[in-house]
Amino acid sequence: MTLMSFFVLGIIGWITYKIFIWPFYISPLRKFPGPPSESLLYGNLKTLMREEYGVPQLRWIKKYGNVIKYHGLFNKPTLLIADTKLVQEITLNKPYDFIKPYNASGISLVGRGLVYAEGHVHKRQRKTSSPAFTYSNVKEMVPSFVRIGSTLKGLIEEKINSGETNINLTPYISKATLDVIGLVVNINNKLPVEEKMTDDELKYQSMTFLFTGHETTSISTCWALYFLAQHPHEQDLLREELVKAFPNKSKFNPTYEEINSLEYLNCIVKETLRLNSPGSNIKRINLKDEVLGNYFIPKNSEIILSISTIHKLPEIWGPTADDFDPKRWLDPTLMNNISNLNYLPFNNGPRNCIGSKVALTEFKILLGMLIRNFVFKPIEGFHIRKRAFPAPKPDPYLGLAVSIVES
Ligand code: HEM
Ligand SMILES: *[C@@H]1O[C@H](CO)[C@@H](O)[C@H](O)[C@H]1NC(C)=O
Ligand SMILES: *[C@@H]1O[C@H](CO)[C@@H](O)[C@H](O)[C@H]1NC(C)=O
Ligand SMILES: *[C@@H]1O[C@H](CO)[C@@H](O)[C@H](O)[C@H]1NC(C)=O
Repeated sequence: MTLMSFFVLGIIGWITYKIFIWPFYISPLRKFPGPPSESLLYGNLKTLMREEYGVPQLRWIKKYGNVIKYHGLFNKPTLLIADTKLVQEITLNKPYDFIKPYNASGISLVGRGLVYAEGHVHKRQRKTSSPAFTYSNVKEMVPSFVRIGSTLKGLIEEKINSGETNINLTPYISKATLDVIGLVVNINNKLPVEEKMTDDELKYQSMTFLFTGHETTSISTCWALYFLAQHPHEQDLLREELVKAFPNKSKFNPTYEEINSLEYLNCIVKETLRLNSPGSNIKRINLKDEVLGNYFIPKNSEIILSISTIHKLPEIWGPTADDFDPKRWLDPTLMNNISNLNYLPFNNGPRNCIGSKVALTEFKILLGMLIRNFVFKPIEGFHIRKRAFPAPKPDPYLGLAVSIVES
């Protein structure tokens, strides 16, 4: 009986300490500015889940500064960083001292692949995976991307010809980006013997690319279509560029060089990834105590690089930071403002996205194919929002009114 009450008291004491005392009176992170906790159980998580993706983060950073703290589950303090000097420390100077917060290596095939590897294991895996993503390999994938885009076009055409104009595009685009990943995985397979992975490594990396490369590109392509439906003038400008390059719409068959020479398409891709990048919440934990700038950060702190916030700071992007404005990428004065520390949809440093070239090429070909062949408009009364969790997807789905471009 006494043992039991001792045990219960112990648990109550521990919970009191963890939720009420440690976050507010002990943790060195208590000194960081930030929004007050809203709940003993879930800190500020309710706000983060309820609002559109990235909105509370941007509001807090604008209010409290570029390095802030909010409270997570059981009031655990979490650092939210939108400061480019700290981005440099974490992604470039000390990337292996800031690890991913999930050790998934025992759990799944993905867990044993590149995404969740750390330290020397990561360096080795990165080396064996790199050959699949070289410039010449990506170039070789282009005709297959075009074929996959063409299938996608055919399916949407069929739908329109059957009398439907309001179309849920999410599953179609998702299927196309899944097909691309199938292709990428096959190209690992064809490498020369000395660059080949073992069967197990191949299995882990295939699952990894499936996990990282499919949804990300699908979400990005969906958002580009969404923005272009909202901004018909930008859509027309892009189509003009595409019509000029590909006068016969049945012959949309670009090479790697051709698709990358399209200036406005490039602006639209960059602008979409600025505003709605699917990889814009980069989570880390520091292995050691760190002093970053003027800040002391005790080891095992939860740190989030808020890329989505950095991508909207007025001190970088000017007064139109929140607007979809692809033309900004043609403004030479913008180039003085940006760098790989404040525009980083693919992260940077040794843990950047290994598939970025594949992603950009695939994104451009799918988007080019679609805009050359179809006109996209919003469906009246159908509201699409940016889901906060688990990924910043169009929610409930990308529904648009679609019609065929006549010539
Ligand atoms: C537009 C599409 C994509 C975006 C925005 C994107 C973004 C990112 C970001 C931000 C990271 C860093 C995550 C972190 O450090 O926590 C990352 C890592 C990664 N991405 Fe992508 N990605 C995209 C497409 C792809 C594709 C198509 C593939 C593969 C075919 C891929 C494979 C990977 C892998 C394997 C990693 C882990 C790299 C490492 O840790 O060394 N991604 N991606
Ligand atoms: C992750 O867990 C595995 C065992 O499941 C262990 O061998 C490995 O050292 C751990 N990695 C890190 C970075 O803690
Ligand atoms: C466009 O290309 C297709 C396929 O090669 C061809 O059948 C068609 O006649 C061409 N249309 C025009 C207007 O040149
Ligand atoms: C560049 O940054 C300055 C100062 O922070 C800002 O006023 C300006 O609007 C930015 N330029 C562009 C093109 O976004």
